[in-house]
Amino acid sequence: MSVVVVEHPVLAHRLAQLRARSTDGDTFRRLVAEVSGLLAYEALRDLGTTEVLVDTPVADAAPARRVAEVVLLVPILRAGLGMVQAIQEVVPLTEVAHVGLRRDEATLRSDVYLDRVPRDLRGRRVMVCDPMLATGGSLVQTCDLVAVRGAAEVVALCVIASEPGLAAFGAAHPDVRVYCAAVDAGLNDAGFIVPGLGDAGDRLFGPPD
Ligand code: PRP
Repeated sequence: MSVVVVEHPVLAHRLAQLRARSTDGDTFRRLVAEVSGLLAYEALRDLGTTEVLVDTPVADAAPARRVAEVVLLVPILRAGLGMVQAIQEVVPLTEVAHVGLRRDEATLRSDVYLDRVPRDLRGRRVMVCDPMLATGGSLVQTCDLVAVRGAAEVVALCVIASEPGLAAFGAAHPDVRVYCAAVDAGLNDAGFIVPGLGDAGDRLFGPPD
């Protein structure tokens, strides 16, 4: 597995705001979206394009390029939902397949409660989206689903990943590259990334119960 930590002042600025406990929910949602769009931009540098001819206001048939590849976004509910719209605003051709995972707060294992991933992913480029890679369990399970259906290329987008989570994920899916804005050292006893940014799902959408 390879990890790309996207380092840029405009990302670092937003990350500082995301981490702050004083950041309110509306601002947190906007920041998750903005960071997601920037990460997607970086992760899709090799997106397939095709040559086209465009009539500009001053010349006919000017050569240009258009995206020719549809990216399948796989947001892990709930928190991954906060990334989708912003990525779609950056990436011209996308489809979305939702996966719902709920992490048991005692065992830290995740149950799949929704799986809308197409049965046949042969030839597809898949981008799994989840703001948090904590133990790595949710991302491993989601990439298991995607891999068994034959995806040609899989990348994962996370806002923050933990070192132990990345190690666990890399052991399970060495072919999947992870793009993130930061790697934090560890986890606390409740499975939260430290220093992290708290519970992304709750900060985006409120407590589930
Ligand atoms: C959180 C987070 C990730 C997952 C990461 O989701 O949003 O999906 O845990 O943890 P892991 O790497 O240890 O698997 P949670 O289960 O709290 O659900 P939610 O997004 O619906 O709040």
